[in-house]
Amino acid sequence: MKKIGILTGGGDCPGLNAVIRAVVKSASVKYNFEVIGIEDGFDGLVLPNKTHVLTPWGIRGILPVGGTILGTSTRANPFEYKVIQDGVHEVIDVSRDIMRNAESLGLEGLIVIGGDGTLRIAYELYNMGCPTVGVPKTIDNDIPATDVTFGFNTAVQVATDALDRLHTTAESHHRVMVVEVMGRYVGWIALETGISGGADVILIPEIPFSVDKVCDKINSRKKSGSRSSIVVVAEGAKPIGGEVTVISGAERGGRAERLGGIGSKVGAEIEKCIDMEVRVTVLGHLQRGGTPNAFDRLLSTRFGVTAVDLIANKRFGEMVCLKGQRVESVSLKEVIKEQKTVPTEEGLVKTAESIGICFGR
Ligand code: F6P
Repeated sequence: MKKIGILTGGGDCPGLNAVIRAVVKSASVKYNFEVIGIEDGFDGLVLPNKTHVLTPWGIRGILPVGGTILGTSTRANPFEYKVIQDGVHEVIDVSRDIMRNAESLGLEGLIVIGGDGTLRIAYELYNMGCPTVGVPKTIDNDIPATDVTFGFNTAVQVATDALDRLHTTAESHHRVMVVEVMGRYVGWIALETGISGGADVILIPEIPFSVDKVCDKINSRKKSGSRSSIVVVAEGAKPIGGEVTVISGAERGGRAERLGGIGSKVGAEIEKCIDMEVRVTVLGHLQRGGTPNAFDRLLSTRFGVTAVDLIANKRFGEMVCLKGQRVESVSLKEVIKEQKTVPTEEGLVKTAESIGICFGR
């Protein structure tokens, strides 16, 4: 029986378990492959006793469950792996160990579910001879070559539900509500949430903003009788000539840069130039946890099935992707080149501006 491995790397998102389930089911139903679950991202191929067989019976009930039954890690980069040797922290390359361990497990294919960082590792391992296939995940929707990643739709729904709730309390108290959403260096979550949730201002990394323009918008709404305003701020948004607001910097062999805090900054700046109270809400990991919606369950299932097909057809070094209505595949090489940012002069930004939403420009 052919054996294939599966792991989830990077931050979690709704729909990971739905992919795992689809992989295990289609591997069994369509190909009679055995699936080996690798725990905690690439850690599972470095450290001992972190793999187990996944059977269709064993994955019952996980379709609607958030997170990942395999666990994940945002720090387990085999090319920059943090270890403690003789009491000293060091960063070493353990990629050869990964290759050896994958081989000794008898893996004839390795499905790597992850965001940009994890997919880059999958590509580098592929170049070393590891039979990897990528599945793109992230609530940020910043992976190129796929129209959308699973997890994004659910995150937008969660944030839109939050906006619906904030509208009513904002209206009661004649307040401005600033809502900080995730998305790292791209504004997809903020943009789609802002439009779907009826925001008045949306601030995204792709369009550096002027606080004066934001205040003009809120003041003109007040003059025309609006009792409240909603401002959606992407965590990566920055003022014209300014920098992204960070909680902590990146560490080699460790965590990535952590963004956060721009919501409070914007709230404080706005309060100086308008005669209304301002309150700030940071949605944070609420956008990432919990059950995937129907769209994401469907996309995850389609991605999982296609990933197994790629392995069966020995199409290694590729990533599954959505193009229009079709699930296809693309070379991982194309994926790791850049991030998918929001186009600022077309599409949804223009739609938003056509209905009066201000981007602070
Ligand atoms: O990439 C997904 C994401 O949720 C980003 O939107 C956010 O900046 C980051 O991960 C948060 O990471 P962590 O869970 O490590 O704080």
